[in-house]
Amino acid sequence: MSISGMTVAYETDGGAGRFVALRDVDLEIRAGEFIAVVGPSGCGKTTLISTIAGIVKPCQGEVRVGGKPVVGPGPDRAMVFQNYALMPWRTVVANIRFGLEFQGRKLSKSEADARIERFIDLVGLRGFEKRYPYQLSGGMQQRVGIARALVGEPAILLADEPFGAVDAMTREAMQGELERILAATGQTVVLITHSIDEAITLADRVVVVSHRPGTVLEVVDVPLPRPRMDDAVRGSAEYARLREYTWNLLKGEALGAHEQSGPAA
Ligand SMILES: Nc1ncnc2c1ncn2[C@@H]1O[C@H](COP(=O)(O)OP(=O)(O)OP(=O)(O)O)[C@@H](O)[C@H]1O
Ligand SMILES: [Mg+2]
Repeated sequence: MSISGMTVAYETDGGAGRFVALRDVDLEIRAGEFIAVVGPSGCGKTTLISTIAGIVKPCQGEVRVGGKPVVGPGPDRAMVFQNYALMPWRTVVANIRFGLEFQGRKLSKSEADARIERFIDLVGLRGFEKRYPYQLSGGMQQRVGIARALVGEPAILLADEPFGAVDAMTREAMQGELERILAATGQTVVLITHSIDEAITLADRVVVVSHRPGTVLEVVDVPLPRPRMDDAVRGSAEYARLREYTWNLLKGEALGAHEQSGPAA
């Protein structure tokens, strides 16, 4: 997938104004690569993956997936939304099933059911299958969103802070599972996170986005061995070095954001 010369602006005040959220973004992502995106709040991370998902259109430049320009959503890409975006009229099982329906997967009913069951276990929602979203906690809703995106094994998984509302223990377990699943399926992942540890633990490369209008400040290679959910890796000097390096990049951006706060052009 490639993003080239991309600028994204939102209309404001009913079309009277324009807010530039991303500017001149260039990024090449290889098939099977795990990319983490970090950057200050409001820098355009959600906007970035929404353009890959095809739900936000750039005003300049383009996103190409498999050589073809993205013109809208497609079954090759699934998104875990920052605000869960579940269907309130569907139960947990039916929300997860949507992930298969959207992908147009030709599975028999029993194959589909078996897959859904597997992902219910994976995200720890056994016993809650028949509940509706309003009957779930925020973290549980988020886990339904993760299962819905993973269940169809999309070629590209776009995840917007997928573990933001999940408790620390569950998050560790799910990060480990995610690493295992992705190693087996070879899916390409673009994951937004506020956690540098999560980025370095999961990603092949970490994209650091500058404060608004966001652009790619730096792409940090993470050449640590896998599996990374391992105390020896996370206790290593290289891990500490990468963590500090990324943290310093981000700290500079956060300070810049405060100095230049106020309405942007
Ligand atoms: N539909 C919209 N209309 C107008 N402005 C928008 C719209 N969506 C986002 N923005 C603005 O674009 C900028 C980038 O938003 P975006 O949601 O991409 O940031 P983010 O990096 O995901 O932030 P966070 O870390 O807080 O989730 C923000 O300043 C936001 O106010
Ligand atoms: Mg966001």
